[in-house]
Amino acid sequence: LSQQDLAGETVLVTAGPTQEELDPVRYISNHSSGKMGYALAQAARHRGAKVILVSGPTCLEPPPGLELVRVVSARQMYEAVMTRAEGCSVVIKAAAVADYRPLLRNGDKLKKKDDNLTLELAKNPDILSQLGQLNPRPLLVGFAAETTDLQNNAAAKLAAKNLDMIVANDVSQEGAGFNVSTNIARLLYRDGRVEPLELMPKTRLAELILDRVGQLLQNKGRA
Ligand code: C5P
Repeated sequence: LSQQDLAGETVLVTAGPTQEELDPVRYISNHSSGKMGYALAQAARHRGAKVILVSGPTCLEPPPGLELVRVVSARQMYEAVMTRAEGCSVVIKAAAVADYRPLLRNGDKLKKKDDNLTLELAKNPDILSQLGQLNPRPLLVGFAAETTDLQNNAAAKLAAKNLDMIVANDVSQEGAGFNVSTNIARLLYRDGRVEPLELMPKTRLAELILDRVGQLLQNKGRA
């Protein structure tokens, strides 16, 4: 495949964590750095794609030449993605979206009171599942960060969310997952194929994922 194998394609990438506010000064979030998503966005840009990067809060410098949409919460990410997905040929969901948010957001800072405090949480919309239901739908790539039973959990998500490919990484392994510059992943496909990969920089993993995306788009074109 040529360097410009994604020319003419519009690729939407989500990256980073989401933050779910509890009150004006507190939130629930996770350790996602955004590195994997930003590497994917930059690599897609280099291959000639028009790129939309929907990013949760990160410290990273946005790569040049792409449309950056900044969001904070999962519900904001949902809006940002769903309003833009129809014009896209590929959506890569590298963001670590919070599954739950505080049911109520306090207008004022919560006060310290009793020894135990119970927080009630509400489920966030699953963006990727909604995308999987679009018709026609863009080529969909998801991520699965797991600490147990990696391959089975990832395969179940691929099927449940109607994805073309899922990048499974065991976040309990050294050099994989959140907040590091390397990853150890395996790629799972709809037809049941599994491609295990060695430890590599997230920048190289991004190139490899986009190689596969390019091939999947070609197959789709032939189908
Ligand atoms: O189900 P789980 O959150 O583990 O699935 C991970 C994949 O689903 C990731 O690609 C993530 O970006 C996406 N996701 C999403 N919306 C959510 C939760 C996860 O798009 N609310």
